[in-house]
Amino acid sequence: MDLLQSLANEFAVSTDKMNEVAQNFKKAIENGLKGGKSPLLMMPSYIGKPSGEESGTFLAVDMGGTNVRVAKFSIKDRKITKIAEVSSGLRSNDGTWDYTTSKTTAEELFDFFAGKIAQIVGPGEKYLLGHTFSFPTKQTDINTATLLMWMKEISVTGAVGKNPNQLLLEALKRKKLDVKPCAIINDTVGTLLVAACQYADADIGTILGTGHNTCYAEPSHPVTGKPMIVNMESANFDWELPFTEYDNLLDAASNKPGGARLEKMVSGVYLGELVRIILSRLASQGSLLKDNSKLKSTYSEKNSLPSKEVSEFIRNRNYIELTFDCSPKEAEMIQNISAMVIKRGARLAAGTYIGTVLHIDPELRNQHMVAVDGSIYEKMTGFKEELRRGLDEALGNKADKIRAQLVKDGSGAGAAVAAAMVTEN
Ligand code: BGC
Repeated sequence: MDLLQSLANEFAVSTDKMNEVAQNFKKAIENGLKGGKSPLLMMPSYIGKPSGEESGTFLAVDMGGTNVRVAKFSIKDRKITKIAEVSSGLRSNDGTWDYTTSKTTAEELFDFFAGKIAQIVGPGEKYLLGHTFSFPTKQTDINTATLLMWMKEISVTGAVGKNPNQLLLEALKRKKLDVKPCAIINDTVGTLLVAACQYADADIGTILGTGHNTCYAEPSHPVTGKPMIVNMESANFDWELPFTEYDNLLDAASNKPGGARLEKMVSGVYLGELVRIILSRLASQGSLLKDNSKLKSTYSEKNSLPSKEVSEFIRNRNYIELTFDCSPKEAEMIQNISAMVIKRGARLAAGTYIGTVLHIDPELRNQHMVAVDGSIYEKMTGFKEELRRGLDEALGNKADKIRAQLVKDGSGAGAAVAAAMVTEN
């Protein structure tokens, strides 16, 4: 068998496999809800779907990984309007500062956020603030959460075990701002909240971006007996996933070996790295890139191949030839390898969405909208098409029951909706 064919077999996710992922995921949801053994954290969010009555002007902080955004939104009659926004990377392009490593303290990170908030709050102004904080937290109410661990290769010191909204409140006080955090949510929850303002059938929120995770609206939550959105932290799902030797290499060299196994197959912080590992391994075995000097000079470091480039590899074979100084045949091979990694991610994600819907609606009687945000879904060449194709194949004649739809800026606007929901009660 030729190399490409054997890679294609390793990376293939058949229709049966997607349905198996769906069943395993559903089981993991049900075990997790009962407090049983599950790779899903199933965190209660202490918030349900919006009523549509929310109104007012609120601040939002969106801390997702590589960027922070602060914004001001006004909400009225289910319409959410952005009035102001400041955003910033957490690392400078020239490497002179970096707020993501263990050299940064939690105080420094939250002071940085407060500094951004100060840019959109006028003198004497007073606001409530919703905070989208997209890392695993254990919540005990809508404004109290404990950071369980960093993800997405972040490792700021002194934040794990603390309440990010308390850290934010203290930083805001140091800046003498009259701004009070009143809600903390996950970005998946924000995406679902924003979608639910417009679409009655929105019951799943998911991020396919730098990281990956999914939440859904549990019709009757065991803790409260009421509807509540559950943040599954599905990055960690790992039951019977089709790991290859390349996934295992990536995992072993990551900040969190053994953790975030699904995220390592579907999300932006890892997809480029996975392609890099495959190419480097094949090149070192002499099966690809006979002249591997460009690969060595540009992509020898961990994380040196951004997922954005993978998107370009799939779109444009000439770009590959230029990037690697390689033959058209080798470029074709690299393009195919990139496409199969992306297709696998899309089909695994599809399996988890089906599993979630089957938990809510085992007979698939109703319509379900999966609200999706994130750069991988939005921009990765071929991803959304493969996801749709995966849903169609696995669901057969029920395929029209689940639709995935891009909902932009759920993590920013969703934080404002959450703040508005708190004040409504
Ligand atoms: C985090 C989640 C988050 C997801 C998408 C994951 O790494 O653990 O909390 O929702 O990334 O941003």
